[in-house]
Amino acid sequence: MSSIGARTFAVSPGARIKVTPGTPLSGTVEVPGAKNSVLKLMAACLMADGNFVLSNVPDIEDVVTMSELLSSIGLVIEHHRDTKELHITNNGNLQLFAPYELVERIRASVNVLGPLLGRFGEVRIALPGGDDFGSRPIDMHLRGLTELGAQFEMRHGDIYARAERLHGTNITLDFPSVGATENLLTAAVFAKGSTSIENAAREPEIGDLCNMLVAMGADIEGIGSSTLIVHGVERNALRAVHHTVVADRVQAATYIAAAAITGGEVEVQGAIAGHMEMLLTRFTDMGVVLVEQTDGILVIGPERLKSIDVVTLPYPGIATDYKPLVVAMLSVAEGVGIVTENLYPGRFRYVDELQRLGANIRTDGHHAVVRGEMKLSGAPVRAPDIRAGAALVVAGLVAEGETIISDVHHIDRGYDDLVGRLCALGANITRL
Ligand code: EPU
Repeated sequence: MSSIGARTFAVSPGARIKVTPGTPLSGTVEVPGAKNSVLKLMAACLMADGNFVLSNVPDIEDVVTMSELLSSIGLVIEHHRDTKELHITNNGNLQLFAPYELVERIRASVNVLGPLLGRFGEVRIALPGGDDFGSRPIDMHLRGLTELGAQFEMRHGDIYARAERLHGTNITLDFPSVGATENLLTAAVFAKGSTSIENAAREPEIGDLCNMLVAMGADIEGIGSSTLIVHGVERNALRAVHHTVVADRVQAATYIAAAAITGGEVEVQGAIAGHMEMLLTRFTDMGVVLVEQTDGILVIGPERLKSIDVVTLPYPGIATDYKPLVVAMLSVAEGVGIVTENLYPGRFRYVDELQRLGANIRTDGHHAVVRGEMKLSGAPVRAPDIRAGAALVVAGLVAEGETIISDVHHIDRGYDDLVGRLCALGANITRL
């Protein structure tokens, strides 16, 4: 991979972020492209030869890691940071192998499985391990691909997948898994005949992937719904395209949360209200005023937030990725809020860190009871994962004194210049 354009920061495991409270945030912030879309769009570039251009690409570490993985498979990738573009060339000379050193660094590496198996009929990929917040199996991916005609063998930690030519079938997912839907969709594009995927995940990032695949020549019906119908095309039928990455709803939610918790007034430009309806309704219940605009959302935070109960669910429910932000907001809200996690039972590790800031949170299984405090008090904390790291930054905006967040490399995986963007809104925040 070659890299064009200066980075705005040097990534190092020792980097830290210092936040102190200040005036309410104000101004305009632009929402970057979605991490959980761009990584899958990059993998979809394995599906056709030619020159792809992805625009509105976020400047995040996961794009760098995914570029390394795809380069090792054979794509030629240039990251033009000045124009926020990835230029990806697929010359058809691919090595059908994703090694452990790269797979273990990024969950989305599993997204090469569908494209490579569908197009080439074989692939070897290291079995991905767990994550910062627990076990993340891929049994649904493998079961669905088996129904499409693939055979799997596990040897020395690698999955060997093979299929002469996949064949269309009817698949019903036990659960609307994002990754399984994406792998089955991309594999089914090249299957002989039609495939229906019932109980498919409906996240906007999956819609984005479908739209790019259709522009490439795939035949997909039901985009945005929980039943996707894919009519298979020949293995060489797709073409390279130019595609713009959808706005990141989790980064958008982060700036909304930051504006709201500080009682600020911020225009979150590029945020798509229709992609986060349920969350916005709940933010309104917390007392946040949200005004949908032509290109974004105007956020006006209240004097003090009000507590609510929140349950995480697959889209269109409230995403698990928003939850740490909501818990941070509840930490200073009036009243008691109960947060229930339905996707990743282990995703409460950051609660200990919020407690270090004085938050009053009790967890019991997959529930957290958050009693809002009048004040938080700054302390050294560590970011246990991407979303939790961002939530600690948001909490730090209202925690008296200094909050110093370490393990910032987690935040860098998914946030495009969080510090710079918050700084521009008037936050007292620096990268150390
Ligand atoms: N699951 C299984 N078996 C499977 C697949 C999933 O048991 O074969 C379980 C998972 O263990 C989890 C649940 O189903 O408990 C949901 O997993 P899903 O497959 O939907 O998630 P994912 O594709 O692994 C993506 C995002 C996550 C986001 C989830 C849920 C990417 C790269 N990751 O993961 O994003 O939390 O969907 O919306 O798209 C993040 O960005 O920080 C992040 C973790």
